[in-house]
Amino acid sequence: MKFNLAVLPGDGIGPEVAAEGVKVLQAVGNKFKHTFNLHYRLIGGVAIDSEGTALSADTIKVCKKSDAVLLGAVGGPKWDDPKAKVRPEDGLLAIRKELGLFANLRPVKVFPMLVDATNLKPDVIEGVDLIVVRELTGGLYFGRPKRQWETSRGRRAVDTMSYSEQEIERIVRVGFELARTRRKKLISVDKANVLQTSRLWRQIAVEVSKYYPDIELEHMLVDSCAMRLIQNPKYFDVVVTENTFGDILTDEASMLAGSMGMLPSASLAGVPKEGDNIFGMYEPIHGSAPRRAGMNMANPIATILSTAMLLRYSLGLKREARTIEDAVDNVLQQGYRTYDVMSEGKTKVGTKEMGDLVAKEVGG
Ligand code: IPM
Ligand code: MG
Repeated sequence: MKFNLAVLPGDGIGPEVAAEGVKVLQAVGNKFKHTFNLHYRLIGGVAIDSEGTALSADTIKVCKKSDAVLLGAVGGPKWDDPKAKVRPEDGLLAIRKELGLFANLRPVKVFPMLVDATNLKPDVIEGVDLIVVRELTGGLYFGRPKRQWETSRGRRAVDTMSYSEQEIERIVRVGFELARTRRKKLISVDKANVLQTSRLWRQIAVEVSKYYPDIELEHMLVDSCAMRLIQNPKYFDVVVTENTFGDILTDEASMLAGSMGMLPSASLAGVPKEGDNIFGMYEPIHGSAPRRAGMNMANPIATILSTAMLLRYSLGLKREARTIEDAVDNVLQQGYRTYDVMSEGKTKVGTKEMGDLVAKEVGG
């Protein structure tokens, strides 16, 4: 089959890891006789420099016409001035909104062979396999008013946390649907003891749960969730939460896997149900790591695993997705590691070598 993919490498290590993701996709294409037509565009700092905006209308157009989008990372010190009119991150927020990518899936799976690469106790993290569903186009990130101003008594700023019934319902449904394909348990995370948005969230989660009698729904306060994620991460299966809570909890959860360099993500424009292909954007959860850029050091596995999610959710190619995931498993099993997950007795490799190893393992 033929597919159109938009590729947005972005800044810092983004282009390096995106190149390895593409390499592995091409290997899958050869093996299973698919053609991936790639459309490269700019986003983030590189787009500010050459197009004057962090996300151009042309980039949006190309993404909308594609079957899925693969993204590297955005941001860097060059564009970090707090007074700057436009920031690379604006491009990321804008593309999420423009493409309607309200459901951000962040799976955290602890690889048995990497247990010694984390600083948590092996018996706490061994066997961890959870997924956080983060609402991505609402809440504090997008609510209005959002501004900073001068008053007679000094500066003041406001951000707004706002959610509609529809926004909550569709994301909670994503949580229930995923729970159905897994261990049938959904934890909805909120701050209902303080926030109105969370009280609405909780009511709607209960209402939607009537359609999913086979799933056990539990509510958890976000502060307590942060604690329990470290105390007993195996307790978690599917977690659904709003934008800001999800941002914070997923960085925390990523440490269970040893390195952010291992974790993929999918941002979807619909509720993933068995048999449906959904438009989405796929990216590693790590950032642009400017200090590592251009050094052939970055771990490309998060991006490579993101391409597996792309095949599964947007193109309906489950077998192909599995092939990539198995290839990553095998390469790790053979003892190859990038610097971030390196441990004694293993073979250290760079970004390109890791991509080559996984592509070779895929075959094709
Ligand atoms: C993430 C990142 C982004 C976010 C930043 C770069 C705007 O932290 O994807 O988690 O806050 O959503
Ligand atoms: Mg984040």
